[in-house]
Amino acid sequence: MHTRFLTGITTTGTPHLGNYVGAIRPAIAASRNAGVDAFYFLADYHALIKCDDPARIARSRLEIAATWLACGLDPARVTLYRQSDIPEIPELTWILTCVIAKGLLNRAHAYKAAVDQNTAKGEDPDAAITAGLYMYPVLMAADILIFNANKVPVGRDQVQHIEMARDVGQRFNHIYGKAWRAAGGSGEPFTLPDAAIEESVATLPGLDGRKMSKSYDNTIPLFEGGAKATREAIMKIVTDSREPGEPKDPDSSSLFAIYRAFAGEADSGAFRKALEDGMAWGDAKQQLFARIDTELAPLRERYDALMAHPDEIEDALREGARKARAIAGPRLEVMRRAVGLGPLAASHVKTKSAKKAGKRARIVSFRDADGFRFRLVGADGEELLLSRAFADPRMAAQASQALAAEGADKSLVPLDATRFAFMHDGAALATSADFTELNERDAAIELTRAALTSLRSTED
Ligand code: TRP
Repeated sequence: MHTRFLTGITTTGTPHLGNYVGAIRPAIAASRNAGVDAFYFLADYHALIKCDDPARIARSRLEIAATWLACGLDPARVTLYRQSDIPEIPELTWILTCVIAKGLLNRAHAYKAAVDQNTAKGEDPDAAITAGLYMYPVLMAADILIFNANKVPVGRDQVQHIEMARDVGQRFNHIYGKAWRAAGGSGEPFTLPDAAIEESVATLPGLDGRKMSKSYDNTIPLFEGGAKATREAIMKIVTDSREPGEPKDPDSSSLFAIYRAFAGEADSGAFRKALEDGMAWGDAKQQLFARIDTELAPLRERYDALMAHPDEIEDALREGARKARAIAGPRLEVMRRAVGLGPLAASHVKTKSAKKAGKRARIVSFRDADGFRFRLVGADGEELLLSRAFADPRMAAQASQALAAEGADKSLVPLDATRFAFMHDGAALATSADFTELNERDAAIELTRAALTSLRSTED
């Protein structure tokens, strides 16, 4: 069993050292664990809520994607994509908007904080608040629920949003669960996600000792500006005025905490001791820079190479979107049917014209050099299953009737990691295409089941 981890990064800024230590490095390490199926994405629709400067958003998307790839994220292993490349997300957002309670959104921290600020200033409570800010948690719920994520690594400030995603997911399951299964979905429409808060991951302090954050203007750059910029920022870390030779308190400056984020126990201990023994702050800063640069220099080289070839990043993101949509697409298709927005031909209202339109799944028989066969074709015309070749046309007809009658129930069985088959009396009568990924195979099983279910409801 794998656990699906999913997290989004809002594309409004340039990654700094605090992002690297607190989010990027641990997320990439986690993605390498066996049993982890990681989905990481650029939350660029969310960026529009905070930022109306198109150049900044475009730049930030590029920098963030380059950073994650340079830091070792393997796009073949992780599904890395842009939110705005997945049209199923805004579509699901609307469906969820019609399920979530408005009162719940009134209580969202980010919205409430904005209202409180307005009230304090004596302004209209909703002054300058966009509907986007208000709807932010619904978009985030769609991000998570469309992929059935199990765990969502986030900071504490985001925990309320995960609870809202659970809430709306549960409500949807309650209202539409039956319709979802009738439309060919299996189990519940949505897995309810949990927030994953890494207690052991330190929040890195910034130059002035407060949490490193763009909003405090106390950050150390990660790659932008090169080693020179990182070094200059380190030289600005606030320290006390103790002279060289005087004992220093390692815990009274950010310097030691930052060092510790880049060193093991033993080296951190030695660094602490040197400070207590009177190492000059200037020397300590040199050592800190050297330490950080040992880790970052090879990554920076990759970052610069990637930034010089945005087309390579673009390709990686498009491939990620393709993998993500192979899951989101079929799920949304069943979701649409479940809420009553499926194709007319699949509804119980049967008319001649709906049949004639042919816009529904069907089984097509044909003959080729090897014998008599049939294929199951989805509503969009794609081939879902291809039968083996039968010498006798009556056997082929029997097999296709068995598929129509039983296929939707439990006879669609994985053959291996990339294919599945319709099994009947222990034989694979029809097999799927060869998918490159387990995820895609499973999504195709879901779609095939939905197609077979719709077949049943239109044919009798
Ligand atoms: N709102 C998150 C943040 O600002 C980013 C985000 C958007 C996200 N969609 C998500 C995080 C889905 C986790 C899951 O940090």
